[in-house]
Amino acid sequence: MIKTAYILAISFGSTFSFTPKVVLRPNNVLYAERKPFITGNWKLNPQTKDEAVQLAREISSHVTPSSPCDVALFVPYPFIEGVQSAVIDKFPIGAEAVIPELAGAFTAGISPPMLQSIGVQWSLAGHSERRTLFGESDEYINRQCKLLIEQGMSVMLCIGETLEEFEKNLVGPVCEIQLKKCLAGISEQEMARVAIAYEPVWAIGTGKVATPEIAQEVHSICRNVLREMYGDDVADSTRILYGGSVTPESVDGLMAQPDIDGALVGGASLDADKFGRIINFVPSQVEQLQIA
Ligand code: 13P
Repeated sequence: MIKTAYILAISFGSTFSFTPKVVLRPNNVLYAERKPFITGNWKLNPQTKDEAVQLAREISSHVTPSSPCDVALFVPYPFIEGVQSAVIDKFPIGAEAVIPELAGAFTAGISPPMLQSIGVQWSLAGHSERRTLFGESDEYINRQCKLLIEQGMSVMLCIGETLEEFEKNLVGPVCEIQLKKCLAGISEQEMARVAIAYEPVWAIGTGKVATPEIAQEVHSICRNVLREMYGDDVADSTRILYGGSVTPESVDGLMAQPDIDGALVGGASLDADKFGRIINFVPSQVEQLQIA
């Protein structure tokens, strides 16, 4: 019988080496155990349900069995059901935010159970636009995360530093504080329903994508924070996505980094061809070694 051993060879000079647990996907490509996750955040776009459905259909046509990742779209509430039908259950449609309440006098609020009642399993929390434009604090975001999880949903927790914090070399401490405050009270088991999106505020919508090396360094810091909080299993299995001006041109370099497990894409997720190329990023080289 032929035994097959696989070596994941990712080479970016000699700055680091990485030997993750590997899985063999049906298309014979190997990935780290954390399956890549490419997601879109439509924000306040597009302008009509018809446009949303059309865009979702076009995006869906780019998702094939050989696409190297899980996919999800976070879309405005009024478009959720139309977009769900358009993608025919090919991938999940999430909400962009929730309020951390179940019912009552919260005008314009949308609760986790309301979303669940229309088949939504995912929501973003802590996006920097929610933090700055809508005053959502780490404590409020923590309540959102906890309620989503209590209600059996999954959450993509967004964190990231401002330009000023970046320039003052505060990236590590800022991400650590945001992670610790926003995840407070969430158990090791519950972390199975959490993904993290590192989105440097200075890279969002600016065209200034973090270099793969900078993003990798921050992702590694975030993973070490998870390691300290929850131990190795959670740290090694939690998907940490990068967000901030991701494009077809930048995605392959980002996805080649060992601690970058996916992308949360704003502007480029509004263009089906661009987002399709991002979904079908070209994985870093893997070598397959056969031992007789
Ligand atoms: P851009 O990709 O437009 O920079 O947006 C990133 C983002 O905010 C995703 O949540």
